[in-house]
Amino acid sequence: MVKRMINQVAVVGSGAMGSQIAIVCALAGYPVTLQDIEQSSIDKAKTFLKGQMDKRVDKGRYTREEVDRAFDKLVFTTDIQQLSKANIVIEAIVEKLDAKRDLFAQLDKIVASNTILATNSSTIVSSKLADVVSHPENVCNIHFFNPVLVMEMVEVVKGPHTSNETASESMEFIESIKKTPVLLKKEISGFIANRILGKLMDEALFLYENGYASADEIDIVCKKALNHPIGPFALLDLTGLDVNYFVRQQRFEETGDEKDRPSKVVAEKVAKGELGRKTGKGFYKYDEKGKRIEESYIHNN
Ligand SMILES: NC(=O)c1ccc[n+]([C@@H]2O[C@H](COP(=O)([O-])OP(=O)(O)OC[C@H]3O[C@@H](n4cnc5c(N)ncnc54)[C@H](O)[C@@H]3O)[C@@H](O)[C@H]2O)c1
Repeated sequence: MVKRMINQVAVVGSGAMGSQIAIVCALAGYPVTLQDIEQSSIDKAKTFLKGQMDKRVDKGRYTREEVDRAFDKLVFTTDIQQLSKANIVIEAIVEKLDAKRDLFAQLDKIVASNTILATNSSTIVSSKLADVVSHPENVCNIHFFNPVLVMEMVEVVKGPHTSNETASESMEFIESIKKTPVLLKKEISGFIANRILGKLMDEALFLYENGYASADEIDIVCKKALNHPIGPFALLDLTGLDVNYFVRQQRFEETGDEKDRPSKVVAEKVAKGELGRKTGKGFYKYDEKGKRIEESYIHNN
């Protein structure tokens, strides 16, 4: 098989992840089309990316010329037909299987027969999407980490349907955008980083719920003894307790195993709307700028 030339990138979904994936590809020199069904999401992405890149120019991480060049390469659209020339499509839409399957079926009718179709899903393995397209060998997971502009790591996951070429060319593509890819040769939901992080979260929540230590104490131990840059409770507040709740709920529905149920304290906080930094309160409290205003917040208080 002739090696694919990647000279046109498409990103679908202009939310937190898609917008950053798009600018990272544009900064690496690729022409990128960023598509979303909502014009309001595109407007938000433009403002967000402008703010992020201005900050980086001020800090000297990029020159104004580099940033301007990247924005010149980035096209925003609500029209999915504009993705027809893409050699690689990275899907970063809402984490719902049906929505992703509908999108892949639509893309199948629009893109060329050798276009790589990758999903950035955090949990959904690409074999759950591959059966809706005519070339499942082009389908794989390419999983970026948030914030994409900062995080170097990317997990590329090969499903049983994925060709060796798609896997190796996806790895090369990730290297070309100056990220570090790791290839999982066998697919598993959650991949590597989030599975390991999940175990750490479970243990931290066990210690907290059973009164062995406060959130603050557990976070300090993880930072000072294990050298983690952020403790598990500060991280839960940052990513959103609702995200942790829904991931666990989905896993519980799949397995029926009591161990997989959302943690009690997380479920209580989600019910109270204490979702972390975005609502001003989670395991800690935050001011309107998202800055922590109190060292420790015990959930019974
Ligand atoms: N947020 C994270 O920390 C993170 C990290 C890694 C991976 N992911 C994965 O990335 C994906 C996106 O997550 P996010 O946090 O950026 O979500 P988000 O809610 O910020 O953005 C999703 C965007 O997709 C758009 N969208 C929905 N359906 C669409 C469709 N059919 N076509 C085009 N656009 C559509 C929405 O309008 C929205 O702008 C999910 O699969 C998630 O699991 C998220």
